[in-house]
Amino acid sequence: MKKVSAIIIHEHGAAEKVARNKRVELAPPGPGEVRVLMLLAPIHPADINVLEGKYPVRPALPGVPGVEGVGVIEKTGQRVLLPYRFGSWREAGNAKEADLIAVPDGISDEQAAMLRINPATAFLMLRNFVKLEPGEWVVQNLASSAVGRCVIRIARHFGWRTVNVVRRAEIAEELKAEGADAVIVEGGDIAAATNGAPIRLALNAVGGDSAVRLGSVLAPGGTIVTYGAMARQPLRIPNGLLIFQDTAWRGFWVTRWYERATAAERAAVFAELFELVKNGVVSTPVEAVYPLEEISTALEHAQRSGRGGKVLLRGA
Ligand SMILES: NC(=O)c1ccc[n+]([C@@H]2O[C@H](COP(=O)([O-])OP(=O)(O)OC[C@H]3O[C@@H](n4cnc5c(N)ncnc54)[C@H](OP(=O)(O)O)[C@@H]3O)[C@@H](O)[C@H]2O)c1
Repeated sequence: MKKVSAIIIHEHGAAEKVARNKRVELAPPGPGEVRVLMLLAPIHPADINVLEGKYPVRPALPGVPGVEGVGVIEKTGQRVLLPYRFGSWREAGNAKEADLIAVPDGISDEQAAMLRINPATAFLMLRNFVKLEPGEWVVQNLASSAVGRCVIRIARHFGWRTVNVVRRAEIAEELKAEGADAVIVEGGDIAAATNGAPIRLALNAVGGDSAVRLGSVLAPGGTIVTYGAMARQPLRIPNGLLIFQDTAWRGFWVTRWYERATAAERAAVFAELFELVKNGVVSTPVEAVYPLEEISTALEHAQRSGRGGKVLLRGA
């Protein structure tokens, strides 16, 4: 049996302490399976939550983390997106051929490795909750994140304007260069940023008071979608936002979307996402790439504040 490198966790805890690079045996592919060599896989906040044991879906212990990535089918050389439960932080693995999404030419390994989760989340949240008219405003927090930047870029592409809440003022010019219409520091005046124009969609990945500030500027009947909880603070929704403003507080989890979508719906979304990457609308910055052997440093880096982009792991 072939031996390959893989990041294994035997227990949950501080990410950089529980993740270990090991040599593991890789069985030959089973029926309907192919061997896939991992090229690049990102370290996402969800991965950190998996290592800490705080994510609702995680590998059984001992297990291999990694929610997404790009690989290549060993036999054919075809580049593919790795499936959700593959455990992408490994040099190679076996996957059901039917679960693999072929990556078209014209898309870099880096962008392919980060496509299935964040750009899809931004795209689906902008499209599936409120039917926005051209020129309408969307407000979001966590705007400096990879999802936040995708929201900025995809919204601009479709003709919607964004007001972006950040916790670091120094990121404002960078986000404006990506297409942000307005950038304000947490606690600033969101309504002034849009000149009082109605806002019908808010995207929240911080939680706590930040989420309430977004919900408070929504037009009556507007929708706030919570998809992350980086501040790890619960939502305390003032009653008036429900009684008098009739705001809708919704949630989004891309994993559930993938589970519920038909094959045709998934294919249609991937076709649009691949196009958005090809024409440069979606482009997620990368700050560093580490080999699997440097997993502890990579994890420590991925958790630093003020990163300029994603931290990726290199496989093959
Ligand atoms: N529900 C879903 O399906 C889904 C899908 C994808 C992602 N997500 C969630 O979306 C969020 C962003 O993911 P990502 O991959 O885009 O993240 P990312 O690129 O790794 O960026 C993380 C961001 O979090 C910010 N941050 C960290 N702690 C914070 C805090 N306490 N308050 C405010 N900001 C904080 C950092 O801001 P600085 O730049 O200021 O350091 C950084 O910009 C995560 O919560 C992730 O779990 C959810």
